[in-house]
Formats: sequence, structure tokens, C-alpha cells
Amino acid sequence: MKFEDLSFEDAPKITGKIPGLISKKILQKQLAIEGKALSYPRNIPFVMEEGFGATIKDPDGNIFIDFFSGAGVLALGHCNPFITKAVETQLKKITHTLDFPTKIRIELIEKLRDILPEKLKNNIKVQFGGPTGSDAVEMAVKLAKIITKRHTLLSFEGAYHGMTAGACSLTSGSFWKEKYLPMLPEVHFVPYAYCYRCIFNQDRKQCKFQCISFYEHVLADPHSGVVHPAATIIEPIQGEGGSIVPPEKFIKSIEEINRKYDVPIIFDEIQSGFYRTGKLFSFEHSSATPDIITMSKALGGGFPLSAIAYREELDIWHKGAHIGTFRGNVTAMAAGLACINFMIDNDLGSHVLSTGKFMLDYLKKLEKTSDIVGEVRGKGLMTGIEIVSNKELKIPSSALAAEIRNKCFQEGVIIEVGGHYDNVVRFLPPLIITHELVKTGIMIVEEAIAQVEKRMKK
Ligand SMILES: Cc1ncc(COP(=O)(O)O)c(C=O)c1O
Repeated sequence: MKFEDLSFEDAPKITGKIPGLISKKILQKQLAIEGKALSYPRNIPFVMEEGFGATIKDPDGNIFIDFFSGAGVLALGHCNPFITKAVETQLKKITHTLDFPTKIRIELIEKLRDILPEKLKNNIKVQFGGPTGSDAVEMAVKLAKIITKRHTLLSFEGAYHGMTAGACSLTSGSFWKEKYLPMLPEVHFVPYAYCYRCIFNQDRKQCKFQCISFYEHVLADPHSGVVHPAATIIEPIQGEGGSIVPPEKFIKSIEEINRKYDVPIIFDEIQSGFYRTGKLFSFEHSSATPDIITMSKALGGGFPLSAIAYREELDIWHKGAHIGTFRGNVTAMAAGLACINFMIDNDLGSHVLSTGKFMLDYLKKLEKTSDIVGEVRGKGLMTGIEIVSNKELKIPSSALAAEIRNKCFQEGVIIEVGGHYDNVVRFLPPLIITHELVKTGIMIVEEAIAQVEKRMKK
């Protein structure tokens, strides 16, 4: 399959002022009738009419390059014909089965068991949850609590684990919590290996990994203030926290400490899983092995689905311990199975590694040439540029990041911002994006950064 044939040909194509007249009317209507918690269209006034691969048309005839892919959901891009066919076939058979078995359900579970790395291969159980990633997190935490009969939880600064009450408790951003307290009790946050802003003031070259020592201290010292936890949850590569790739040693060390203190470890692969970083799961870039993996986003091939996979010996919870009407939507399962098969048949991991490297190498040079680019980092097609108003003092600038995002939108590239200070311009394109589209897109990003920098210096 040629990836060139999976996107509209002439992207980006911008025909006039954005948003155009038709889009404007739709956006105004939405703002008038939808709730105030509405989020993305307030940042990017975009109406999506038709999507294909890594490109999207709006109703005014503009075509955009999609560097966002529905927050990383659309691994194979919009309307991938392979997935559409699988969904059409399923739609004509049966679409809702609660957790009664179907052939597709069993096939998907078997596929997941089979493709996992050696230590977990065919040695895991899969449990489907409600249709969002947050519910996979709820399930993982519930299982860990049942296994250990403990309730304290450890999470990391910069973590994003979702918006349901339990998952939100494990999410570090205070923005989502300050008006929503109280959260789950006994959740503690420890520093992630966010080397650009190391809170232990370490230099990368002489780093003594104080973040790892501190983590062990939290578990070892009876006066650390942390009661022995039920689990630690960690993103092996942080997404919403700002595309943070920790040093190789970090994740394995956290796992080893957890083994030493007998604390189950949950790897949240909801965003980083399914070849987003070039490997099936991002923990495979280290030699670490989780007890529980959370999955969603690409798992459903663009349709809502979530699940956890965990070591077989941990399967000690009771019948109905985690239920819900949409626990494993069979249409999403058909899409997900087609998606995984496509990924394997087309060696998508290698494509992601090479396109991702190209993107990272190209953008890396901005660290030297631009005064507002603090750091460029990423793995595979999960990349971010940390924007600062003062490079020496590393002063984060969410305003400049937003300006860059808005300029990119005007020129036909969809990106979003994230990070601790909302100052990281993030790229999560569909994994089937071609080198050519990546190049066109990042040149537009480069120009947007240059323009914002120029304006700032005036
Ligand atoms: C790492 C991670 N965990 C959990 C979630 C929550 O998933 P959902 O938004 O589908 O509930 C997200 C969503 O972005 C995520 O990136």
C-alpha cells in the first residue's frame, strides 16, 4: 500500500481568510448552543468537512495538513479505506454485544496477546472498558487496589491520565482540578525525568539521576509521607506533559524500584502506544516490563475503545468488577483489529521511526537558530517544541506557542499546544503521513516560528 494514496493530493490549500464564511457560521452556531466546557474550537476555529489520511478539508474548500490526528487517535489517518471496509462489514453484522463474545472480539484479544514483547507475549489477560482512555485508567487503578488491598497511588509531575474523577486525580495539571476538588485521596506526584527543566538542577552530561533516588526515597522512607502504594502509574514517554522523552535508564529504574518495594506498575500507553513512537508500545524503548498496560486512542482504529492488558497472574478480580454498557464496542474492535493488521503488514513502526527522525532532525536545528525555541524533542511521531520568551532563563511562553499554532492554522497546518506551561507546540500526525507531507508541514511550522520571533523582537 502506497501511503501517498492515503491523503488528499494538494494539501495544504488555503483559498482565503480562515475561517471562511461557511465555517464561521457553523462555529458561531456551535458556540451558541454547546456548553462552555467546549475546548478545541475555541483554540482552533476549524470545521472539519472531510478527512483523508493526514489531510482534512473544511467546508470552505481549504485543505489542511493534520499534525494532530484527533489527539493521536487516528493512527492510520482519516477514513483509511482498510478500516472503513472492516467497519462496513461489521456494521452489517452486529454492532453492540456488551461483553458477549464475537469472533472479532476474540481475534483482537488474541492479536494483542500475540504482538506483545517476549516477556508478556501470550501471558496477559485483556479487559475492555468503557469507550475512553480514562476508563482504562480507572480499571487499571481498580485492579491494582484489588490486588494489593492498598489505596495510595503514585503518579508523576506532567502526567495526563484523563478526566474521569479517578483518572483526573492522577493527572498533574492543577487547571483541571482546582474547581473540581476533592479528588481521590492519597495520590502523590513525584518528579518525572523532565531534563530540560530538571528540578534537581542537573546537567544532562553529569546527571546523577536524583529523580530516581528521590523516587526510591519516597517508597523507602517511612516518613516520606507516602503510605505504601497500590500502584504507580507512568507514561513511558509523556504526551500532554509536553512530549517528554526521559533518558533510557529512567523507566527501567522506576520499574526496578517498584519490584523491590512490591508495588505494581501501570504503563499508560493510551497516547504513546500502537507505534506512535516507532515501537508497538513506548516502554519497549527501555527494557522495562509493566504489570498493567492501559490502551485506547489508536486501539480502536479511530473508534472509541479502551482496554487494559495485565499479567495473567494478576487476574484475581471478581466477576463484574468493572462493568459498563459500552465495554468493548464491536465496531471499534473491527476497526482496531484492521488497524493493528495494517500496522504490522505495512511495517508501520519502521516508517514512523524514519519519518519521526526526519522531523526531529529538521526541527532540532531550530534550537540553535531560533531565540524562542528552548528544546525540540520527541520519539517517532510524538514530537514537541518547547517555546520560551527568554532562552537563557527558559521562561515558558504559552502566548508565543499559541501564536505559532494560530499562524500554522492560517497557513494550513493543524497543531495543538501542551506541556506544563502550555508552551509546547506538539506534533501527533497520523502515522501513515508521508515524508513529503511532513516536510511541507514542518517548513510551515518553521516559518511560523520565524515570524513570531520577528514580531516579538520588534
Ligand atoms: C496518556 C493518556 N492517558 C489517558 C488519556 C485519557 O484518554 P481519554 O481522553 O480517551 O479519556 C489520555 C488522553 O489524551 C492520554 O494521553
